[in-house]
Amino acid sequence: MNFDQMRDKDLRKEVKKRGLRRYSPSPDTPLENLPIRQILCGDCLSILPSLPRGAFDCCIADPPFNMSQKKGLGWAFSSHITMQEGWDIFSKDEYFQFTLDWVTEVLRVVKPNGNIFVFGSFHSIFTLGFVLQNIFDRRIITQIVWYKPNAQPNITCRMFTESTEFILWAVNNESKKAMNWTFNYETMKAMNNNKQMRNMWEIPLIKPSERKYGKHPSQKPLEVVERLILAGTNEGDLILDPFSGTGTTGVVAEKQNRKWVMIEKEESYNQIAQRRLNELSEN
Ligand SMILES: C[S@@+](CC[C@H](N)C(=O)[O-])C[C@H]1O[C@@H](n2cnc3c(N)ncnc32)[C@H](O)[C@@H]1O
Repeated sequence: MNFDQMRDKDLRKEVKKRGLRRYSPSPDTPLENLPIRQILCGDCLSILPSLPRGAFDCCIADPPFNMSQKKGLGWAFSSHITMQEGWDIFSKDEYFQFTLDWVTEVLRVVKPNGNIFVFGSFHSIFTLGFVLQNIFDRRIITQIVWYKPNAQPNITCRMFTESTEFILWAVNNESKKAMNWTFNYETMKAMNNNKQMRNMWEIPLIKPSERKYGKHPSQKPLEVVERLILAGTNEGDLILDPFSGTGTTGVVAEKQNRKWVMIEKEESYNQIAQRRLNELSEN
């Protein structure tokens, strides 16, 4: 779907008024030379167009949340400082355009009816949901709430302590046509003392042992990503992560006999990811 086919005329006018670019998926590229089990270092907006249409069974995307401030906030009682990463700073319009651009390409490279899991916080989740649901008319199956019982305290004391992240679960098809998506219901039930698994997951922040090769401000716990992979993919499936950071998706995919391709633009994070992957092959 391109800009001219958008269903909502007002939205189209608004996008034009704000000077956002038109977007369209890149042309098809051949399936050979798919870089399986590789971390591709660079901007996903440049790399995704080189990947073939429909190559992936699933995408797990943990994009920038656009929550960073130029100067992070800290306080005397903790070493914690709020995020101030350059890769996480956008204006509202830049973030909307960025989301349109990467989602356009992800929808091209994931198979029809493939699962797409997207992480976000309240800073980003409404834009992400709007783009997936209203602009591209993808079926949203549900949102998962990741509740962090040991979240950092709130520094300003002007609001509740932020202790959740969301994961949108979308299927790569128009909402009325989506069908046969993968959901390993019995596996999830077995992981939950034989009771249906709910969409609220209480999982603590990452353990120090998961950070032994270096720190990343928004590294995801293996346990969260493991649930997504076990729920939404089968052994042998190929998973894309266009914002891989420390490579959590690849590490879980390897452990669970899935294949992966990851993209990350910061070389220092790729080094952490590579060390985590190397450790798996040493054991
Ligand atoms: C929220 S973090 C992902 C963390 C990851 N899930 C983990 O467990 O380590 C987002 C990552 O996207 C990367 N990034 C931001 N913009 C990017 C882009 N245009 N292309 C590729 N990577 C990008 C950042 O460097 C950052 O590591």
